[in-house]
Amino acid sequence: MSLKTLILYSSVDGQTVKIIDYITRSLEGEVVHYNIDLDPFVDFTQFDKVLIGGSIRYGNFRPNLIEFINANKKSLNLLPNAFFLVCLTARQHEKSAPSNNAYMLKFDKLSQWHPQLKGVFAGALLYSRYNWWQTLIIQFIMRVTGGSTDKSQDIELTNWARVDAFTSKFLAL
Ligand SMILES: Cc1cc2nc3c(=O)[nH]c(=O)nc-3n(C[C@H](O)[C@H](O)[C@H](O)COP(=O)(O)O)c2cc1C
Repeated sequence: MSLKTLILYSSVDGQTVKIIDYITRSLEGEVVHYNIDLDPFVDFTQFDKVLIGGSIRYGNFRPNLIEFINANKKSLNLLPNAFFLVCLTARQHEKSAPSNNAYMLKFDKLSQWHPQLKGVFAGALLYSRYNWWQTLIIQFIMRVTGGSTDKSQDIELTNWARVDAFTSKFLAL
């Protein structure tokens, strides 16, 4: 019987989904995706492995993500499991690992599930999609963290080699 992998995600502008699609291309067997923000019913007993990915906005995970995880912690723990987050601060080396990224430390406090494998990936800066106040917030974040405030350009900051390394570890679980 072939491996069946469950992937759950919470994404607003699509970069987490893009990372998940990229990881999925390296996975063996069947892969099923669910959007946590649509409050899916998930039968965990159908799966052999689980991966969850979620993005950061305004310093937080979306509330659905933590609620879903805590409501399903027992089922998550019964499978080989992994989690990654996507944010902008992870583009900086000193904030790019699960051990030094403030949002992962926040996850560790909020989540009652402690994944076997954790990843932190830089996301995308999509100025062309943001409204004026989102643009201001992002420019503020970028200004205080020394990034690009040039709103004429979208920039993908995801380091795909890091995603590859994470995927290899996920395959080995
Ligand atoms: C309105 C808004 C607020 C954000 N707040 C943060 C933040 O507080 N910290 C951070 O590191 N990244 C922040 N980001 C960056 C996102 O995490 C990044 O763009 C990521 O790629 C989004 O992933 P998604 O497209 O899957 O939602 C924010 C982005 C937006 C649009």
